[in-house]
Amino acid sequence: MSPHPVPLQGSTLPPPAHLRYTALVNRQNHIKAAVAAAFSAAAETYDAAAGLQRGVAGELAARIARLPLKQPRVLEIGCGTGFLSEALLGLNPREVLLTDIAPAMIDRCRKTLPADAQVRFAVLDGEHPEDAGGDFDLICSSMTFQWFADLEGTLARLCGQLAPGGALAFATLAEGSFPEWRAAHDDLGLAAATRSYPSAAELRSMLPGLSVEEEHLTRRYANGHAFVAHLKKIGAHLPEAGRRPLGAGALRSVLRQFARGIDVTYHVAYGTWTKS
Ligand SMILES: C[S@@+](CC[C@H](N)C(=O)[O-])C[C@H]1O[C@@H](n2cnc3c(N)ncnc32)[C@H](O)[C@@H]1O
Repeated sequence: MSPHPVPLQGSTLPPPAHLRYTALVNRQNHIKAAVAAAFSAAAETYDAAAGLQRGVAGELAARIARLPLKQPRVLEIGCGTGFLSEALLGLNPREVLLTDIAPAMIDRCRKTLPADAQVRFAVLDGEHPEDAGGDFDLICSSMTFQWFADLEGTLARLCGQLAPGGALAFATLAEGSFPEWRAAHDDLGLAAATRSYPSAAELRSMLPGLSVEEEHLTRRYANGHAFVAHLKKIGAHLPEAGRRPLGAGALRSVLRQFARGIDVTYHVAYGTWTKS
């Protein structure tokens, strides 16, 4: 693996300079700090609430297991508490670097996984993965890319860090997620603060040669409050950048539509790409 610009050791690294949480003046850093704080705050409640994410990580792990990898050097982006990371250890990896923007998620991941000399952890903004080094045989990520501001640029940067023959494998939310929640806002003439996600076609056009499979998953929540509480427990409640959350009155009106329960559809895209 090529030399790292920062010393990566068996311990969690301090956040790179562009992510320090004090004196943030850049708007993008400010948004990222808020995302990191929301996920860090959810580190202890995530596992119990994130059944859907656990299932998606399992689906992605099954796809990764079919790739022709031999003792791979692996980088995971947005490892969270380690749903996918655990499966990566089964690949007989030469090295595994597990990264996330939220320090408390990394701490939780480190406590969850069995101690393994090949595994290192780092706080890292996945949109700027240069600090992680290069020549990886596998770069993977589950349910994290939907948080990126510049997915197309990030895909190019990540592919640039693969060794020849290396693979990128990810799962992310795609266009058409949460239609029930959006429709409830439309009915009231409100704009949902839900994030925008790329379609499968858009993903393919961002990265020529990307293979995309899609899955629709539906989860039922007892009412609108339960759905919002669920998002908080997994740290995924921040609105799209630049959107204000609904005011209290407007939110009450939306929630009233789901007094008898809400089915929420998640559209998941699984992407795999191999470097020639
Ligand atoms: C929904 S969780 C998924 C976690 C884990 N991969 C899983 O499958 O359970 C999203 C994760 O992405 C991380 N994340 C969000 N933005 C990120 C960024 N810019 N760089 C790295 N990680 C990020 C969050 O901290 C969080 O751990």
